Amino acid sequence: MTRTVYVNGEYLAEDQATVSIFDRGFLMGDAVYEVCAVLEGRLVDTPGHFARLRRSMTALSMPETLDNDELLHVHQELVRRNALREGLVYLQLSRGVADRDFAYPGSETPPTLVLFTQAKAVIDSPLAHRGAHVITQPDLRWGRRDIKTVQLLYPSMAKMAARAAGADDAWLVENGLVTEGSSSNAFIVTRDGRLVTRELSSDILHGITRAAVLRLARDVGLVIEERAFTPEEACMAQEAFMTSATSMVTAVVSIDGQALGDGRPGAVAARLRTLYIEESLRQAE
Ligand code: PDD
Repeated sequence: MTRTVYVNGEYLAEDQATVSIFDRGFLMGDAVYEVCAVLEGRLVDTPGHFARLRRSMTALSMPETLDNDELLHVHQELVRRNALREGLVYLQLSRGVADRDFAYPGSETPPTLVLFTQAKAVIDSPLAHRGAHVITQPDLRWGRRDIKTVQLLYPSMAKMAARAAGADDAWLVENGLVTEGSSSNAFIVTRDGRLVTRELSSDILHGITRAAVLRLARDVGLVIEERAFTPEEACMAQEAFMTSATSMVTAVVSIDGQALGDGRPGAVAARLRTLYIEESLRQAE
């Protein structure tokens, strides 16, 4: 089926949709994005994703775009027009079209706003059932990872390195400490049952799923430590998992070839995944 996508106020067939070659997203990577999951035809945690979009835009002094009600409407309209039951909606917002220059164009330049859907089995994902094998890679990204920019080349390289090693994904390491996954936040469960994930800073993306999972974990009485951990500590952990809008909560079963626990998805990850899916289904709009 040809998808319907959204470009600057218009709903178009995907093969009719175009963006200028002078778009700063293309020329300079001068763009931010968001990804919302869709379950049963409804969107998960749009307030969180829209709030982070505003934070990214503010950090980069990007011009205003649609307000949150309008953004929600475009998301829902795309889900409806594409009859999407389960998958993702991607929002890409660039600083717009201007002659190539390192300096930002003036405020008269309107941003480019593109949204599109992607069908995907989010709940019944094969990776979630069997658990992910991850390798560690040096974190060579820039220093503002809290801004969700489209500059995704290094995460792509890390993912390709994982594939080449026969693994599913990479966890990134800086100064001997895990920052996060190539496109997810990283968690471990210690042998005495504490949940550990790196504290928020400009070193990591402030995951919307991370925040929800921490809240759910607190509600069920888990002890939480927001601090950095080493790959060695992760390898010795009882369990590990990663969170993102696209993978929800996905267990990690080995790190650099070393099996965690009994080498199968752990109980804490499974429980948090179930709780997260239940809450998402209740609250999706
Ligand atoms: N990635 N850290 C990084 C580097 C990410 O790219 C992502 C999400 C996350 C998790 O954030 P959230 O829970 O808000 O999805 C953490 C998205 C899904 C992507 O690029 O496809």
